Amino acid sequence: MKFSVSNKAWWQADVDLLVVPCNERSNYVATAQVLPAGCPDAPRASIDELLAAERFRGRTGRSILVSTLKQIVPRRLLFVGLGEGGLTPDTAHQLMRTVAQVAESHCAERVALSIGALDEAHLTRLVTFANIATYRFERYRMPDDPLVDVKQLDFLSQDVIDGAQEAILRGELIGRSVNFTRDLVNEPACVATPTFLADAAARIAAEQELECTIFDEKELLAQRMNLLLAVASGSSAPPRFIHLTYRPEGASAALPSIALVGKGVTFDSGGLSIKPSTSMDEMKMDMAGAAAVLGVFSHIRQLAPNCVVHGLIPSAENMPSASSFRPGDIVRGRSGKTVEILNTDAEGRLILGDALAYATELAPTAIVDLATLTGACCVALGNNMSGLFSDHERLARALVQAGAACAEEHWRLPLSKRLFEQIKSDVADIKNLGERWGGAITAALFLQAFVGESTWAHLDIAGPAYASKDDGYHRKGGTGFGVRTLLELLSRPADWS
Ligand code: BES
Ligand code: MN
Ligand code: ZN
Repeated sequence: MKFSVSNKAWWQADVDLLVVPCNERSNYVATAQVLPAGCPDAPRASIDELLAAERFRGRTGRSILVSTLKQIVPRRLLFVGLGEGGLTPDTAHQLMRTVAQVAESHCAERVALSIGALDEAHLTRLVTFANIATYRFERYRMPDDPLVDVKQLDFLSQDVIDGAQEAILRGELIGRSVNFTRDLVNEPACVATPTFLADAAARIAAEQELECTIFDEKELLAQRMNLLLAVASGSSAPPRFIHLTYRPEGASAALPSIALVGKGVTFDSGGLSIKPSTSMDEMKMDMAGAAAVLGVFSHIRQLAPNCVVHGLIPSAENMPSASSFRPGDIVRGRSGKTVEILNTDAEGRLILGDALAYATELAPTAIVDLATLTGACCVALGNNMSGLFSDHERLARALVQAGAACAEEHWRLPLSKRLFEQIKSDVADIKNLGERWGGAITAALFLQAFVGESTWAHLDIAGPAYASKDDGYHRKGGTGFGVRTLLELLSRPADWS
């Protein structure tokens, strides 16, 4: 898709679809309220009539598609309601999804968006969401109808801003990073194995000039990553641990550094504590945290954040078999702590225990982990936001603010000390299972036991990482949740260092 900004008159834009976003008002008696002056009278009067007849007020979720029948240059007009708040990160996301859907069903290759005033941040977001909205995962089937892709998107704005080209490029890079993550999440587990993720990481490292270390089984043993090995023990797919490092060009020693840790369970059957078969297919998405971390690195050289970034991914498949780890097993992981395993389906916290221990040894300024960790978090918060756990106010605030800037919501949940009683073991230092209530919190408390004094935040993305059906923002499948927040966070190191 090609993007451009121009101050061309909308009724002269030679496009298949011209989009007019509308703030909510009590009524639209005249298009003068939405359309800049200068439009020829004849189409304006008919459009006025139509908007009035359809009682269009610009509510969110409402849109009106008009065929212009050659009265003006654009083939069709699309009025999209933005609600009372106008253009926000969230409505920008919805807007672009609507545009993509209409463009798809009306074979629009050339699209223009009449946007009035436009600043760099808005432009970046609109381009990001245009890329996200037009995403399809079609590696394994042909679409029913031959589909036309949007080839060109022009932003028609009164003022053509100076930084437009950079803003567009940044939006494209962020959009591609998110879609890279979605591709990984959407791959079936028979393809996206731990070695597949390690190969993807090695490829990114070569392209982006990153340091890349990958531990195979033998090395994992030498590195005392026994919790990761335990989770992997039931599968014929061997585990991997991935460590990527990005350093800005000409970096000085004084730069802040961050470790991003992503849960990479490529399929979570539950292991011997096997899950019910209903929607077990979705557990191919249990590596969405890992995929988000890889997405962040996929274009990091061009995005060029001014901090050192470590990407750490423990990856294994959780399967039941004669060689599986069992409930009752006691395992000493990299941190030296022993863990009593009471449920093999609480495997995410185990592999993260080893990865977080490794992360603390790097002594970064901050650690952020992303994990599809608990169903309990989905029960608490639904499917659109992550659960954010941190005892570090600045880091927590930086994450919430970074998310707000790019329409990803993170809701703070408490690391309630009292619940730690639930994960005390009679026979080991800690156990991997708490009681039913507060399950997202006990999982987070388990992780906290492995980060020592480090500045750390945990995002439970079990809800938002995957759309079980079209959610108005994404098609069914991986959403790439977390990539935008992390890229935003990396672009403002002063907020967390
Ligand atoms: N991967 C799951 C969590 C999950 C659930 C992710 C739904 C996405 C959607 C995790 O490994 C798991 O199985 N958690 C258990 C923990 C329980 C055994 C303490 C859960 O949430 O039921
Ligand atoms: Mn599980
Ligand atoms: Zn899991």
